[in-house]
Amino acid sequence: MPSAYEIVDHSYDVVVVGGGGAGLRATLGMVQAGLKTACITKVFPTRSHTVAAQGGIAAALANMSADDWRWHMYDTVKGSDWLGDQDAIEYMCRNAVPAIHELEHFGMPFSRTADGKIYQRPFGGHMRNFGEAPAERACAAADRTGHALLHTLYQQSLRHEAEFFVEYFALDLIMDPADGSCRGVIAWNLDDGTMHRFRAHMTVLATGGFGRSYFSCTSAHTCTGDGNGMAARAGLANQDMEFVQFHPTGIYGAGCLITEGARAEGGYLVNAAGERFMERYAPTAKDLASRDVVSRSMTIEIREGRGVGPNKDHIFLHLEHLGSDLLHERLPGITETAKIFAGVDATKQPIPVLPTVHYNMGGIPTNHMGEALRPAPGDPDAVCPGLMAVGEAACVSVHGANRLGANSLLDLVVFGRAAAQRASLLVTAGAAHKPLPNDSADQALARLDRLRHAKGSVRTADIRLGMQRTMQNNAAVFRTQDVLAEGVRLVDQASAAIGDIQVNDRSLIWNSDLVEALELENLMICSLSTMHGAEARKESRGGHAREDCPDRDDTTWMRHTLAWVDDDGRVSLTYRPVHMNPLSPDVEPIPPQERVY
Ligand code: FUM
Repeated sequence: MPSAYEIVDHSYDVVVVGGGGAGLRATLGMVQAGLKTACITKVFPTRSHTVAAQGGIAAALANMSADDWRWHMYDTVKGSDWLGDQDAIEYMCRNAVPAIHELEHFGMPFSRTADGKIYQRPFGGHMRNFGEAPAERACAAADRTGHALLHTLYQQSLRHEAEFFVEYFALDLIMDPADGSCRGVIAWNLDDGTMHRFRAHMTVLATGGFGRSYFSCTSAHTCTGDGNGMAARAGLANQDMEFVQFHPTGIYGAGCLITEGARAEGGYLVNAAGERFMERYAPTAKDLASRDVVSRSMTIEIREGRGVGPNKDHIFLHLEHLGSDLLHERLPGITETAKIFAGVDATKQPIPVLPTVHYNMGGIPTNHMGEALRPAPGDPDAVCPGLMAVGEAACVSVHGANRLGANSLLDLVVFGRAAAQRASLLVTAGAAHKPLPNDSADQALARLDRLRHAKGSVRTADIRLGMQRTMQNNAAVFRTQDVLAEGVRLVDQASAAIGDIQVNDRSLIWNSDLVEALELENLMICSLSTMHGAEARKESRGGHAREDCPDRDDTTWMRHTLAWVDDDGRVSLTYRPVHMNPLSPDVEPIPPQERVY
C-alpha cells in the first residue's frame, strides 16, 4: 500500500522540523555553520506559536537594577522545585546575556529605557540576591516580545539563505534499525499532496508543546505535540509530561493570554472582597510569585467562595490604576485582547481571569547540547544518534516541575543555538548519506493511509473533545489519587476510540480532516503520558499539586519520569536521576530547600 504514494527525495546535512523560535534559531545556526539545512514547518514560520509570547525573555543584563546570572540560576532551580537539571540551568542562565546581545545585533526591536538600554521588567519568581526581592530581568518588546523575536530570527534565516518547506506536515522519523539512529523524516506537502523523504545526518525536532490536549489553553490550535508523538512512535520516551503549567491570567472563558507583564507593570489580582489576596500567600513576591503558586492561590480563593462574577468562578486583574499612557506604551497587545475577548476596557475596568493551561515542562529528554536521549538501564544519559530536540518539544530539563515566565523564549534561543553548535561538530558538511533501508517510509505512510481511509463511527472532533475534557477535569491545578485514577481510565478509553475513528475526506490536498486525525494521535500520546505520569507520582512538586500527597518527597521522587507509549497506547513508566551538579566549578550545587516566595 505505501507504494501507492510517490515519494520525492531530498538530502540535507540537517533537517529542522518546526519554524518557531527554537526551530528558527537552530536553522540559523546550522546555515551559519555551513550545514545544508532544510526547515520543515506546518505553518508559515512567522505564524508559529512563538509569535504569541508576550511579556519578555529573561537575562541578567542588570539594565534597570543589579542582577547576576547566578541569581537567575538560583531562581530557576528553585522555580523548577528541584526537578531541573542544574548543569543545563547553569548553561542557560550564563548564556542568556550573550544570547540577548546577539538578538539585539540581529535587529530585534526591544523596548528601550530613557538612556537607550534594553527595557527590562520584573517577572514571576525572578528575584535578586537569592530570593530577596523581585528583579527586573525580563527583556521586553512592549507585550509582543515573541512577535519581535520570531520576525527577527526569520529575517536572519532568510538572510543566510536557509531553505524552508512551508506547510509541510512531518509524519514520522526515519529510524535505522541497524544502530537505532535517526536518518531523517517523512513529510506530507499539504498544498499539493506530495510525500517527501528528507534524509539528514541530524534531525532536529522543534515542534512546540501540546497545550491542545486540554480544553482551555493559551496555546495555538497548532500546538499538538507532533514531535513528541513522532519520538514515541520511534521508540523513544517523553520526560516529565505530568508537569503542565497553568498561567494565572488566561481570559475567563476565552483562555487568551494576559501577560504576566501586566502584574510586572503594577497590575494586581483581587477576590470578590476586593482583597489583594496574594499578599497572604506570597508575602515577599505577592502577585509576582511563580506561576504554580499564583494559580493555586487563585484556585483556593475560588473554591472557598471568594471568586468574582455571578458564579464566583474567576478573579479580577486590575490595571486601570496604571493609566492609559502606560497601558498603551507597555501593554498595548493585552489592552486590545481584553477588549476583543473579554469585552472590557482595561483602562477603566478589571479583566476577568482564570488559571489556564499555558506550557508543557515535559518533552523529549535532551542534554544541554540539544541531543535527544534514549535512556537505558545503567546509562540514563545515552544519546539517540542523529536526533536533537529543542524548545517546548524538548525537556532539557531547565524548567523541571515549573517554568519561570520569560525563561521559555530564553530556552528557545539558547538551546537552538547550542544545538547548531553541537551539530557543527558532529556533522561534516556535504558528507555522503548511507543508503536507507528500502522500507524507510513504509511505517509513516501506512499510518497516514490507515487514517486517510478510516471508516469508523466516531468523529475526530468528538474523540478530541473527550480527551480534552478528561485532561481539563482530571489533570488540573489540584490533583488527587481518585481523580487521577479516573483520568487514566478515561484517557485510555479515549485512546482506544482512535481504533474506531471516522475520516471523511480521502483527498491529499489541504485535507484538514486528515491533518486533525494525525494531530489527534500525537496529542493522545502526550495526554496518555501526562495522566499516567501524574497518577504514578505520589508527591506535590511545582505544577503537580496532589491534595492527598501535599509535600514534596525528595527521597523518592526527585527523579525524572520517562513515559514510553507503544503503538497500542500502552504506557510504561521508568525514571532517571536529576542532574544535581552544575556544569562548571564556578557555582556550587543548589541544595533542595523549602520553596517560599
Ligand atoms: O505572561 C507572559 O507573558 C508569558 C510569558 C512566558 O510564558 O514566558
